[in-house]
Amino acid sequence: MPRPRCVAVARIIGTCRRGPKCHRCHRGRGLLSSSTNDLCILFRLYLWVGFLSVPYIDTAMIQCPRGTRDFLPDEMEKRRFYEGRLRNVAETFGFREIETPIFEDSELFILRSGPNVLKELYAFEDKGGRSIALRPEMTAPAIRMFVNGMSNDPKPIKIFYFGQCFRYERPQSGRYREFFQFGAEIIGGATPQTDAEAIAMASSMLRSLGLKDYRLRIGHIGVLRQRIADIGVPKERTAEVLQKLDKKLYDEARPLLADMGVSEDDAEALFKLTETVGGVEVLSQVPGEAGDWLRQVVAYLEAMGVQTPEIDLGVVRGLDYYTGMVFEAEAPALGAEKQICGGGSYTLSELFGGEKVFSTGFAVGFDRALLALEKEGAVYERRGIDAYVLCASDDVRIRAAGIAADLRAAGLSTDQDIMDRKMAKAMKSASSACARYAVIVGARDLENGEVTLRDMATGEQSNVLIADLASRIRGERGRP
Ligand code: HAM
Repeated sequence: MPRPRCVAVARIIGTCRRGPKCHRCHRGRGLLSSSTNDLCILFRLYLWVGFLSVPYIDTAMIQCPRGTRDFLPDEMEKRRFYEGRLRNVAETFGFREIETPIFEDSELFILRSGPNVLKELYAFEDKGGRSIALRPEMTAPAIRMFVNGMSNDPKPIKIFYFGQCFRYERPQSGRYREFFQFGAEIIGGATPQTDAEAIAMASSMLRSLGLKDYRLRIGHIGVLRQRIADIGVPKERTAEVLQKLDKKLYDEARPLLADMGVSEDDAEALFKLTETVGGVEVLSQVPGEAGDWLRQVVAYLEAMGVQTPEIDLGVVRGLDYYTGMVFEAEAPALGAEKQICGGGSYTLSELFGGEKVFSTGFAVGFDRALLALEKEGAVYERRGIDAYVLCASDDVRIRAAGIAADLRAAGLSTDQDIMDRKMAKAMKSASSACARYAVIVGARDLENGEVTLRDMATGEQSNVLIADLASRIRGERGRP
């Protein structure tokens, strides 16, 4: 019978049957009989399986929590790029950045929405017994910050923020438990122009991302609130009705309204009002001052070159604090979770111990906006680095490290081989780092004060004086 080959596993678990002459493991049948040897092999196998499996069971791979994501370097670079575009727009509109804590007293969010909101929050008691919540949005924290430290500043105060928010929702595509918002608030302005400024900035932001297909809709929550009050809905139950209208759940709203004593005709008229959708002409159907207000908002938007948004009195918004104009942007490509931006005018400061101050703001759902871009086929090109320094031989490594340091000091993004790699392998690293140039340091070139500069795209190589290296790379990189 041919003897099995000594493979790595057989060698490890001691089952090699090639005999004492096996040059790879030097294990053989030895002095034991064949059946004793087989038993022995089984026993060894048992020990090895046990030994190998126990540590793996104990250290099962830990994943990030449900509804959260890790962002690997490629993704992170892309996110920072788009975040930068939004930041640019905010700054060109004269907004200044703020940052608030990721967690707040739960009270901050309960004050407006009631204790029921706790179900949707990541809320917990800290070691000091305080009720804490991870922020589900950043408007309430921004207004708290305004009341605490900015209330005497000249108005309007224009601020923006970028950061993660947490909502205890059922995760699905485009809906996460940890997600990012890029938002802005104009505090202390209560004019149609304030509203227009917020909408114009939101629209510029979406355009700056390169998004092609999105719909902007504006409405007026004041109109709905007024109608809901007029038909006899008790004030404390307004939110319940608005929630149903927000999702167009008329079948669920009917019994609810009936239970509150609202007549069938009034209920149907309310539903019809939320179906008021169209161009500026539908504003003639908008009762009271709200119609005039929205007409002025649209006039400002047109003057600022913002594509006229659709008028839609069915824009209800999920949050309770809005009082006047409300707006949303949606990207149809996203399907169910298509809302990529939402905002409106509101008052909150009086709830947090300050004076009543009207504000307008919005937040772009950063993750959804990026998803929409992806669906539209937008491709982000990795930025890469300017130069990758590598060595032709080991004796120049220290000198090469100095050259890399000089390039970095000259403001060029530079990586270098720090793994003592041979040139061919180091060149592969240069290409996976997306370097525009490889700087090859060799002993003979160094004698002339030179290195070899290789254009990674074309493969062209030339000798360059070390003294000229930075300007040569900078001059040819075609960036400011
Ligand atoms: P919001 O509509 O609740 O408004 O959120 C703004 C945006 O955040 C949404 O349009 C959506 O794109 C994104 N978003 C919300 N929840 C999730 C989630 N679970 N996963 C991924 N993205 C999500 C606000 O938060 C208000 N604070 C906006 C505002 C600012 N109003 C006035 N000022």
